[in-house]
Amino acid sequence: AQFLSSPRSLSSSQLADSIKQPFVIGVSGGTASGKTTVCDMIIQQLHDHRVVLVNQLGFCSMRIDAALSHMRLMLGVQLRNRGSTTGSAFCTLVLSLCLTGILCISVPNQLDSFYRGLTAEESERAHEYNFDHPDAFDTEQMLECVEKLKGGNSVHLPIYDFKNHRRCSESFRQVNASDVIILEGILVFHDQRVRDLMNMKIFVDTDADVRLARRIRRDTVERGRDYAKFVKPAFDDFVLPSKKYADVIIPRGGDNHVAIDLIVQHIRTKLGQHDLCKIYPNVYVIQSTFQI
Ligand code: ADP
Ligand code: C5P
Repeated sequence: AQFLSSPRSLSSSQLADSIKQPFVIGVSGGTASGKTTVCDMIIQQLHDHRVVLVNQLGFCSMRIDAALSHMRLMLGVQLRNRGSTTGSAFCTLVLSLCLTGILCISVPNQLDSFYRGLTAEESERAHEYNFDHPDAFDTEQMLECVEKLKGGNSVHLPIYDFKNHRRCSESFRQVNASDVIILEGILVFHDQRVRDLMNMKIFVDTDADVRLARRIRRDTVERGRDYAKFVKPAFDDFVLPSKKYADVIIPRGGDNHVAIDLIVQHIRTKLGQHDLCKIYPNVYVIQSTFQI
């Protein structure tokens, strides 16, 4: 009870100092190496750690602090009002969410979003355009978006139309700040400033023949691109040299369940070390209450 009345209270400046940033993971690798598949598997396994309640409440893409303030509104209580019955009910509810490991994981943030749209003239000669060169991407915009997300802000990402090589002018995708942000794409390790924002870098390393076979299948059905002219040379010139920046290299992509398990464990450990109470002051109060 004594602890309750004097929790590990921090001054607002101490609190601000202790606020930690989201955990940013970069996932790179050649085309059709299985980057998206690996990201999906990681997210799926982390989701296992959540409870269904989160989705039912509709909080799945919210930051935990946004979810908390929403719940606070719903319950009509002040978070610090721990003495009251309603406050206790609220605390119990939040605690059960925290205990069951609810952590907000972002929607994967794909590099596709950062392809520059082609001009009408370029579009007419799209077969001559090199989509695998770093210049095909708007790196400055990618950097700005990751910086914003890392700073806890939400961003609007362009939606890219692969068929017409254009950004949809009328729509965008909102990505909210989260505890974990995954940045995926063939050249996400190319720019040092973007690399420096990453806490963990994964390179999905799948045999070139396997990738070629997958790519031909995918291109025939969906895209219509020339692999030998641009994709393979650009992989050798830009993507493969960026492999040296990876912390983890996953051979065989999504077939490598051991590697994905290890990565998921690492993310969970890191999130644990982050200590939710330090990331989000609201949770700090709740957790101190729980520790009694
Ligand atoms: P990337 O994001 O690196 O381009 P994807 O994850 O989209 O790669 O995979 C490319 C294609 O290969 C998709 O059609 C996907 O279904 C398929 N694929 C990915 N991993 C495997 C795997 N381990 N076995 C068989 N097919 C796979
Ligand atoms: O999903 P993946 O990582 O394979 O996406 C990258 C690939 O998309 C590049 O190798 C590039 O050739 C291809 N691409 C395309 N058409 C575009 C933009 C990119 O085929 N308009």
